[in-house]
Amino acid sequence: MAAGFEGFEITWRKAVFDDAPQAGSAASFGTLGINFRARKAVDEEEPDATSSREMPSWPTEEGGSAHDDDIDAKTLRGMLERGDPVTVVDVRNGEDRTEWSIPGSVHFDAYDALNAGDEKAMEGLDLPGRVPVVTVCGLGRSSAIAARQLRRRGYDVYSLEGGMKSWSMAWNVAEVPVAGSDAEVVQVRRTGKGCLSYLVGSGGEAAVIDAALDPEVYMGLARERGWRIARVMDTHVHADHLSRSRRLAEMVGAELRVPEGAPVSYPHSPIAGGDTVRIGAAKLTTIHTPGHTTESTSYLLDDGALFTGDTLFLSTVGRPDLEATSEGAREKARALFGSVRRLLDLPPQALILPGHTSEPVPFDGEPISGLLSEVREEIGPLLEDEDRFVQKVAGGVSPTPENYERIVELNRSGEWPEGDPTELEAGANHCAAG
Ligand SMILES: [Fe+2]
Repeated sequence: MAAGFEGFEITWRKAVFDDAPQAGSAASFGTLGINFRARKAVDEEEPDATSSREMPSWPTEEGGSAHDDDIDAKTLRGMLERGDPVTVVDVRNGEDRTEWSIPGSVHFDAYDALNAGDEKAMEGLDLPGRVPVVTVCGLGRSSAIAARQLRRRGYDVYSLEGGMKSWSMAWNVAEVPVAGSDAEVVQVRRTGKGCLSYLVGSGGEAAVIDAALDPEVYMGLARERGWRIARVMDTHVHADHLSRSRRLAEMVGAELRVPEGAPVSYPHSPIAGGDTVRIGAAKLTTIHTPGHTTESTSYLLDDGALFTGDTLFLSTVGRPDLEATSEGAREKARALFGSVRRLLDLPPQALILPGHTSEPVPFDGEPISGLLSEVREEIGPLLEDEDRFVQKVAGGVSPTPENYERIVELNRSGEWPEGDPTELEAGANHCAAG
């Protein structure tokens, strides 16, 4: 099952230190559960201010030039995707960082000190001297102060414009090999939020499942592969992010398929359990899997891959308690029990491809997936007894997604909010039970 950070951490550390001095070590940082040790400059001295400022400014992906002191999320995303050397320093407090973080970033909790005007807030942080640094906070204000302080020490530092809020739209991809299918599957990951969407292509045609990013992202990925997006499909009405499916379908002239019974009020083509959808030579079969929501639906690709939305994750199941009374949550939990059992009776070699992950997605090209047989082993104990299952997953003990009622309302009406959608989508997803 490929869902860990280890591969990326190794890559990232290599990228950081390939250009860094080989000797010496200094401060150690707790980051992403491993004991990250940062090395100090080559001769244990502060880096040379003159030489570090000679580094060229990074271009933005729009072709313009970044603000002298800032870097935008798109540019940082591109750098991480290419494996460019960069040290990302997260200056938020531990609680905020626990909610979500940039994969591979170094944690240096300076938030209170920076906001108290402490000119020495960033002292004690030692970084590889010749590697560009990006500071990050929630909205980009404290990180700008942190950047100024580090710059005074000679580092080449940029502050992430808009902070973690703008990082929420960052994304990366992984190709998913699917045995027994002619289709190619691309997992499109909103790394800054954990939303997983999919592009399924065969014979020059493609379907997009659970579009969670700007339509241009899917259009660009399909164009690169010579695919025409013919269908856009959702697994359910989402509560943690705004669905981009309707906008994408309109922009490319694709058929919009939404599970039958979904409480949506915009024009669409309903899809019911047992329906099949052709994509080139490949076939998607619809399986109605109520529980997380009543309309929740999974899609089986040629017995080789199963897109489970928020019904089934790799080590847990979707939560049934959003928008439900406690009695309603128990009823939905019973439905979920049956749905998950039916899914786990499908061919054991099928690859489970969920709609979310609860960890920031590394830029490692590794799909977040698991064989059905592995997932069955992982969550088997949860499915032994229906009453115990219902009691456990209907408890509603985890925090609800921020603004979820407003997000659901918009996803039902199909309307797009005025202004910046990331205002509404702040925070990690909370769609899993437990
Ligand atoms: Fe959901």
